[in-house]
Amino acid sequence: MNGLRAPAPAPPAEAAFDPEALRAQFPILRTKMQGRPLVYLDSAASTQKPARVIERLKSFYERDYANIHRGVYELSQRASALHDEARRKVQAFLGARDWREIVFVRNATEAINLVAYAFLRPKLEPGDEILVTEMEHHANIVPWQIVAGERGARVVAAPITDAGELDLDALAERITGRTRLVSVVWVSNVLGTVNPVAEIVALAHRKGVPVLIDAAQAVQHQPVDVAALDCDFLVCSAHKTYGPSGVGALYGKAELLDAMPPWQGGGDMIEKVGFEGTTFNEIPFRFEAGTPDIAGIVAFGEALDFLGELGLEAVARHEAALIAHAQRSLAQIPGLRVLGAPKERRSAIAFTLEGAHPQDIGMLLDLDGIAIRTGHHCAMPLHERFGLSASARMSVGVYNSEADIDALTAGLRRIAGMFQ
Ligand code: ALA
Repeated sequence: MNGLRAPAPAPPAEAAFDPEALRAQFPILRTKMQGRPLVYLDSAASTQKPARVIERLKSFYERDYANIHRGVYELSQRASALHDEARRKVQAFLGARDWREIVFVRNATEAINLVAYAFLRPKLEPGDEILVTEMEHHANIVPWQIVAGERGARVVAAPITDAGELDLDALAERITGRTRLVSVVWVSNVLGTVNPVAEIVALAHRKGVPVLIDAAQAVQHQPVDVAALDCDFLVCSAHKTYGPSGVGALYGKAELLDAMPPWQGGGDMIEKVGFEGTTFNEIPFRFEAGTPDIAGIVAFGEALDFLGELGLEAVARHEAALIAHAQRSLAQIPGLRVLGAPKERRSAIAFTLEGAHPQDIGMLLDLDGIAIRTGHHCAMPLHERFGLSASARMSVGVYNSEADIDALTAGLRRIAGMFQ
């Protein structure tokens, strides 16, 4: 010993992502499937819930529950305050300037429907267009088709390349004097492609066209700042951000929401009701008719605290490393074809395996306790673009580790051997 102190060991690059410790926070990940440890690689469909979110739901019902904005008694005041605090948490998480810009809905799908009916429908004229992309989830296609169909307008899709990226020149060309809205996914739920949404917003705004961002697969994987993005609307779901199912959020610029008529009528969305007519509440309450999922909203706030404490930058780095490992591993499997090769990919990788139907892949992996999604992943036009009707898809969350990817790779290797 020379008396000099050895330099302190460098902290692990991702101390927050000790896979064992994170996994331990998710009770369901202790479940055995077919007698084996569950390997959950379907977070793009829905994330699992940490114990603190489950506990928040339980404790809210046990200690704080009453209806909100309707009672002068203490319990109702407390429930209202917790609900309103959750709205502030969503506001901070998304980077909105004003809490009134956050509307609670059931999920991202309902948020898009709200915009379709209350924002777009009253403006649509025959011949108008809504521009989406070939990589959209059905939730970002069908609501526009329904309102377009009623008004003689149409949905137009910007093409994607074989790499599964947007062709930005082609997208720009399709924003014309007839375009009433551009609605684009941030991270594709199938390809994992990260679209340059800030560039798309700027492009559309130069032509005076508002933009909605479907961020259902984005906000849980990377930091988001709606004010910096300058998007007009952004939608997300709690159940994909480690929160409960049945809750989602719509962000909309205050001036746009303010000018929109209500879309569902009922309690809490009114100012004054009489049989001769009704006047409506301020935003965001005008769009929140009826008693919401109060406990779910409070637990959504808890889930955002969980993500915020992990740090979205750190989440992004952890998941990028997993995706890179998965890409390297999957490339070694004979007959496996990954859909697309985007420069920036997050969260999800879809693939096919020569000779094996995606359904068979999913069922055989399930025998090993490995959960992935198979089918069209609510993106039929995208699959058609790749000449397919279905694919298999793995997707990651904060609790996944390289060991999960290795288990998937080993399973796929065995399946490849069975079918080829
Ligand atoms: N949209 C979800 C998925 O991609 C359900 O699986």
